[in-house]
Amino acid sequence: MLFLDQVDIRDKRVIMRVDYNVPLNDGVITDDNRIRASLPTINYILEKGASLVLCSHLGKPKGEKRPELSLKPVAERLQELLDKDVIMAPDCIGEEVLTLAQNLKPGQVMLLENLRFHSGEQKNDPDFARELAKMGEIYVNDAFGVAHRAHASVVGITRYMSKCCAGLLLEKEWKYLGKALKNPERPFVAVSGGAKVSSKLGIINSLLDKVDRLIIGGAMANTFLQAQGVNMGRSLVEKDLVSEAREILAKAREKGVSLYLPVDFIVGTGPEGEIGSGVCPYQDIPEEEMALDIGPATHILFTEVLKDARTVVWNGPMGAFENSHFAMGSLNLAESIARLDGLTIVGGGDTDALIHKAGLTEKFSFISTGGGSFLQFLEGRELPAFKALEECGQ
Ligand code: 3PG
Repeated sequence: MLFLDQVDIRDKRVIMRVDYNVPLNDGVITDDNRIRASLPTINYILEKGASLVLCSHLGKPKGEKRPELSLKPVAERLQELLDKDVIMAPDCIGEEVLTLAQNLKPGQVMLLENLRFHSGEQKNDPDFARELAKMGEIYVNDAFGVAHRAHASVVGITRYMSKCCAGLLLEKEWKYLGKALKNPERPFVAVSGGAKVSSKLGIINSLLDKVDRLIIGGAMANTFLQAQGVNMGRSLVEKDLVSEAREILAKAREKGVSLYLPVDFIVGTGPEGEIGSGVCPYQDIPEEEMALDIGPATHILFTEVLKDARTVVWNGPMGAFENSHFAMGSLNLAESIARLDGLTIVGGGDTDALIHKAGLTEKFSFISTGGGSFLQFLEGRELPAFKALEECGQ
């Protein structure tokens, strides 16, 4: 795979895939982190004397032109952040857009309209990919958030370009995550939370081959506790996965991985409700209540487990953190990890939102921009974006 600094882009027209799938509320961007994350690569490209065509998806328009999912608000925000004009294209393919692209001068930027307004994007349709490829002479992928999607702007397009490379953000993700998983400094501790064991089985199984200690929190811990005969009251438990959880516990023992589960919980009647009976040891969860956050004893335990870690990979909250009654466990854990000296990596949707909420963004070594792609990387699965970049030009 080539990286941006290995490619001569002077006077060239670069087409770059970015992930501008930002949250919108009535056309207003509520979180512009993904736009900000693309700025170093954009500035690098412009400073090198290239012109730039950016492309992204937004939401799930499923092949229909949906005005509320136009990338126009993103172009406006990008223009403010770059302090330079950003041309908003009327579409992402076609003669009119191609003329606009060909007329770009070095240092100029154009953003194509939502790729998913065409069904060919998600289908990785070769005709759509070929049309898109015409918009640039060199392809840069800087969209780690869609690295797990075999779509036309991620995979198909690379077959029609003679030069492809990874942008600065993609390179950073590749290096940080790769370092943590392939060559970690030890002790290596993984922290896995979130609601469902079903979505994390692959990751946990793969991490058991790599880590020294594994912390499991969030609602998924409930299934593991039930697998050990604990009565979880009305807590969310994936009953069909109880035996699988038992196997994971056995595998951890076999591999010498220390696996830690919560020892106490904050309980309540539901994730949207208030605190019920308060703090309960794991064996005393009331029949009519559910575990909604880890308790203070668990926080001390997890902090102790993390204390000497040299590498930490964290994904998934410890409780129903959107409700402030049940956010303490996750926020406290974020602080414990933020204080560590080693390499600390966070990713996967909810977890980065949590770090931002805690105001600890600067205290982590790396916050991945990937959601599903971060999880697939952790699982050790090959990501289509990297494979396509490796094969480009061969
Ligand atoms: C994300 O937000 O995780 C990425 O942009 C991928 O979006 P998708 O799940 O709609 O493909």
